[in-house]
Amino acid sequence: MIYSKVIGTGSYLPEKVLTNFDLEKIVDTTDEWIVTRSGIRERHIVAVGEMTSDLALQASLRAIESAGIKADEIDLIVVATTSPDKMFPSTACLLQDKLGIANGGAAFDLQAVCGGFVYAVNTADLYIRTGQAKTALVVGAEVMSRMVDWTDRTTCVLFGDGAGAVVMRANDAPGILAAKLHSDGRHHALLRADGNICNGEVQGDPFIKMEGQAVFKFAVTALSRVVDEVLKDAGMQGADVDWLVPHQANIRIIEATAKKLGLSMDRVVTTLSHHGNTSSASIPLALDAAVRDGRIKAGQNVLLEAIGGGFTWGAVLLRW
Ligand code: UT7
Repeated sequence: MIYSKVIGTGSYLPEKVLTNFDLEKIVDTTDEWIVTRSGIRERHIVAVGEMTSDLALQASLRAIESAGIKADEIDLIVVATTSPDKMFPSTACLLQDKLGIANGGAAFDLQAVCGGFVYAVNTADLYIRTGQAKTALVVGAEVMSRMVDWTDRTTCVLFGDGAGAVVMRANDAPGILAAKLHSDGRHHALLRADGNICNGEVQGDPFIKMEGQAVFKFAVTALSRVVDEVLKDAGMQGADVDWLVPHQANIRIIEATAKKLGLSMDRVVTTLSHHGNTSSASIPLALDAAVRDGRIKAGQNVLLEAIGGGFTWGAVLLRW
């Protein structure tokens, strides 16, 4: 049997930091409101001309270095993004070029918004397990700051830019223990960015619109259910989870999921206070932080979960 395993992680945040206090000068909000309702204190914002593929490149270089491989060993690139550089070609192809990879391996983007990284890890795992790829680079990268209306306080305080990446490789023992993905398109209007040019002219509002409370309620229920599903598939319980690495959207959603699992918050990796909701980048950003500071160790069970527009949601249980 072939399995897959994460062998390296990397992440990157743009230099510019925008604090809640900076936002108080832009929209009618307060640091107190943002921290209490979301847990976010600051976010990073791309420089003019800095693109999703640039963030993805920095995170990928760090992941490749930590994996101890050469870039041209990568025969699959999956970039989860909802803010690609261009309509086409894919950010994954642009990243492949920036990494100097010319081995003809597959590269494609995956659009599941904030659910994107768990979708991408599951996809890469299946490619590796079926023998279609040996070494996969899985990236979550976003420039959400270009998709928010900076006059809309209900959304602009929540999002930030960043990228994270993992290298996954074929392995004799299982590194991905269980995974489950879901979507329910009936809720597409609750979290969306309508703008498109596919009907012959630029149409619709390009900025993020979110029914925050409705998303919140759905998220708490859906995430609790999906983490239970993967644990059941793996024959485990909440107590077997060493680290929960959740999508970083709202500390209250994270706390609710941890509570349902019976996990204390010291077993939950939270980084959202200093980068906000970076959509598909948030899990690999948190994962990389906890791997690099030594919290996540070989042999431990690590549970990832996320939900995003669509809705899309899912969870992946890994043996580190
Ligand atoms: O990543 C994809 C998934 N996304 C999520 O998981 C996000 C889910 N939703 C949330 O995280 C929360 O719903 C929010 C953080 C977006 C909002 O928190 P909330 O506790 O649901 O607040 P709310 O939307 O019910 O708004 C409460 C009040 C409202 O005022 P009134 O109507 O009570 O007078 C808002 O107008 O807070 C007001 N408000 C603000 N006040 C200060 C909304 N945004 C702000 C703001 N600053 N930035």
